[in-house]
Amino acid sequence: MSQVGRTQVAIVGAGPAGLLLGHLLHLRGIDSVVLERQSREHIERRIRAGVLEQGTVELLREVGLADRLLRERLVHRGLELLFDGEAHRVPLTELTGRELTIYGQHELVKDLVAARLATGRPLLFEAPAVALAGLDGTAPEVHYVHNARTHELRCDFVAGCDGFHGISRPSVPDGALTGYEREYPYAWLGVLAEAPPSSEELIYAHHDRGFALHSMRSPKLTRLYLQVAPDEDLAAWPDERIWDELRTRLARRSGFALADGPIVDKGVTALRSFVAEPLGHGRLFLAGDAAHIVPATGAKGLNLAVADVAVLAAAIGEWYSAGSSAALDAYSATCLERVWRVQHFSWWMTSMLHPSPDAFTRRLQLSQLRYLTTSTAAATSFAENYVGLPLSRPSSPQSSPHRGAPR
Ligand code: APR
Ligand code: PHB
Repeated sequence: MSQVGRTQVAIVGAGPAGLLLGHLLHLRGIDSVVLERQSREHIERRIRAGVLEQGTVELLREVGLADRLLRERLVHRGLELLFDGEAHRVPLTELTGRELTIYGQHELVKDLVAARLATGRPLLFEAPAVALAGLDGTAPEVHYVHNARTHELRCDFVAGCDGFHGISRPSVPDGALTGYEREYPYAWLGVLAEAPPSSEELIYAHHDRGFALHSMRSPKLTRLYLQVAPDEDLAAWPDERIWDELRTRLARRSGFALADGPIVDKGVTALRSFVAEPLGHGRLFLAGDAAHIVPATGAKGLNLAVADVAVLAAAIGEWYSAGSSAALDAYSATCLERVWRVQHFSWWMTSMLHPSPDAFTRRLQLSQLRYLTTSTAAATSFAENYVGLPLSRPSSPQSSPHRGAPR
């Protein structure tokens, strides 16, 4: 016999999207239950990206979630593009007035989990949602399993924040969503190494042997990526081979010493562009990776998830406080404007930096890189997109106190 519960917003998935949404709704006095398939330990240890736009940090600071981030982060004001054996610095902050924050996504997830538990509102781990029902009605349900029992959670809205492989998007009736997709003929082998970063800033390298990226997490932790085949076998990459290949692709004529150290995490990630339109169906609203995926090259995935839930929280807030569904009805269109801008930038950066097997295209790539590093106009356009366009600022939590469901 399944247990029946009730809340206002059922949030499926405790990644950055689901946890931040739960917090923004909490600040508006709106109830929610967050259901997460994995254990707390799993989601707090899952190594992902770690570049936060200024808009993302400003929102996290505004809602009281940035204390540790602001203490432990690295602030970047530029990055390097390395090609033809030469590095070219792009002065991001000089060109845009905005800065970047380096802070591991799993560190942010730890902060969001701690904040959620501090509110006392429900966050269930090892509680996979197994079915969504009644999305077309006014009382949708999420069926989930917890402690080996099935539960039904009734709500006003379902927020599908369960990532690309979640159940939310596939729960939309056939034909109600259109997926736009682009696959890339390469993947990234990513490593986390206990080695001091070999450069103050990120290095994106276009090399004949393939793309490489030097990033970091802290003064003791370096994060590095190598372009590999989509079906690359990790077993074919012992640590020494990884360091050799990184040294080759990150080499420059003026000399560059890559500090190495024990590799504590490694994995191969596919590169994909995907957008679902619209971002939801009926009382189900999709946010983050459940709705769209960007190739990691532009470091946009996390920031786009944050942008979505900022819009969604305000729209749900308006429904409860003003009885208006206008912002909810506009949710998809509002987010898709930013989603496609970011998709274009991520596809463009990916296409420019991963050396093409076709000689003509390779020369176009190098011409694009030279233009980007010699023209202030081109560099400014790149920088503006890379640091992130300001978040659209729907009404903030403080401005719309919750007044109960509309009649
Ligand atoms: N029931 C409950 N939870 C689920 C289910 C399910 N059926 N399916 C998936 N989940 C959980 C996953 O375990 C994961 O913790 O949903 C969460 C989705 O989190 P993310 O994949 O981190 O997605 P999102 O919150 O949208 O964040 C996007 O994450 O993957 C990075 O690059 C991406 O930076 C981007 C960010
Ligand atoms: C990372 O630090 O993991 C990172 C940085 C920049 C990217 C992608 C990933 O473009």
